[in-house]
Amino acid sequence: MSDLTFETQAHPARRTDAERAALMTNPGFGKVFTDHMVVARYAAGRGWYDARIQAREAIPLDPAAAVLHYAQEIFEGLKAYRTADGGAALFRPDANARRFRLSAERMAMAPFPEDAFVDAMRKLVEIDRSWIPDTPDGSLYLRPFMIASEAFLGVKPASEYLFVTIASAVGSYFKDPNGTVTVWVSEHFTRAAPGGTGAAKCGGNYAASLAAQAEATSQGCEQVVFLDAAERRYIEELGGMNVFFVFADGTLQTPPLSDSILPGITRDSVITLAREAGLTVKEEPYTIDAWRADVRAGRLTEAFACGTAAVITPIGTVKGREDNFTIGDAVAGPVARRLRGMLVDIQRGTTQDSHGWFQKVF
Ligand SMILES: Cc1ncc(COP(=O)(O)O)c(C=O)c1O
Repeated sequence: MSDLTFETQAHPARRTDAERAALMTNPGFGKVFTDHMVVARYAAGRGWYDARIQAREAIPLDPAAAVLHYAQEIFEGLKAYRTADGGAALFRPDANARRFRLSAERMAMAPFPEDAFVDAMRKLVEIDRSWIPDTPDGSLYLRPFMIASEAFLGVKPASEYLFVTIASAVGSYFKDPNGTVTVWVSEHFTRAAPGGTGAAKCGGNYAASLAAQAEATSQGCEQVVFLDAAERRYIEELGGMNVFFVFADGTLQTPPLSDSILPGITRDSVITLAREAGLTVKEEPYTIDAWRADVRAGRLTEAFACGTAAVITPIGTVKGREDNFTIGDAVAGPVARRLRGMLVDIQRGTTQDSHGWFQKVF
């Protein structure tokens, strides 16, 4: 247990009910921010200190801060959900705390204590509780991150860090929450390489993915499918989501975790729920050629993306330089719909959770 405690300095002038209601009418994703944020500082030799919940404001940063030059930065993404009794709950915040620690280790950063991480999420949800949407697709998205704040020029791990968490009232990530997405297979750009940082949630991975994302957008696609860096054959994941394939015999398959795939908490939850529902789930490599051939032969009936932001989003059409293919009629399939229902019911507390994933905040 860490002894880090958060002092609360409530916002002196929170937005009014009317202002908040206007902002939350159609929030989109990641555009509407709450009144508060969490901040904590770290210095080598001193550890974590000055932890507080305070008014959301700009962060003063020295222009030589290491993060601005060497991108020593990590982040997380998790949601608080409105429950039927008017309360709120988090979904597996301990798993995000653990992944945040592992990301910090990979980026040679100071680990943030896992219990303090969960405590910070709970405190932010409590103080900004009026920002949690009560719409079916709405939630409060929490974005913890850590940056190297030490001012120096020189390539070495920094000795000072800043931990911050902001919160955003969000609706669904994709425009049509019940529709399917079209994905672009990136043949030129890769996201992560063996030995690299693909399994860490660091900003650099996303910076490296943006040229591919821009290419996808220009092709009318919502997301990128990244292939492995060595052979450009094996499907790894999407730009911000893991991927599952559903076969006509009812089997599910997802690429196995490696140091070039982000270990998604939704991915892990889907595997558990699918197995409990009696489905066979294989964590095995799958090539883009096999995907195309299996769709054409009718062996593959569904594919879906999954992640905190996307929940479970079926993939309708796959586009690439070579050719395009469409899965079924490009509508949400029964397996994706069923798993989504099981997951969402646990997240929102409308079903019994036997896993300890649903964590009530108030
Ligand atoms: C690259 C990438 N893969 C997968 C995921 C899904 O992870 P999770 O289910 O923990 O949100 C995300 C989102 O965080 C991501 O950015």
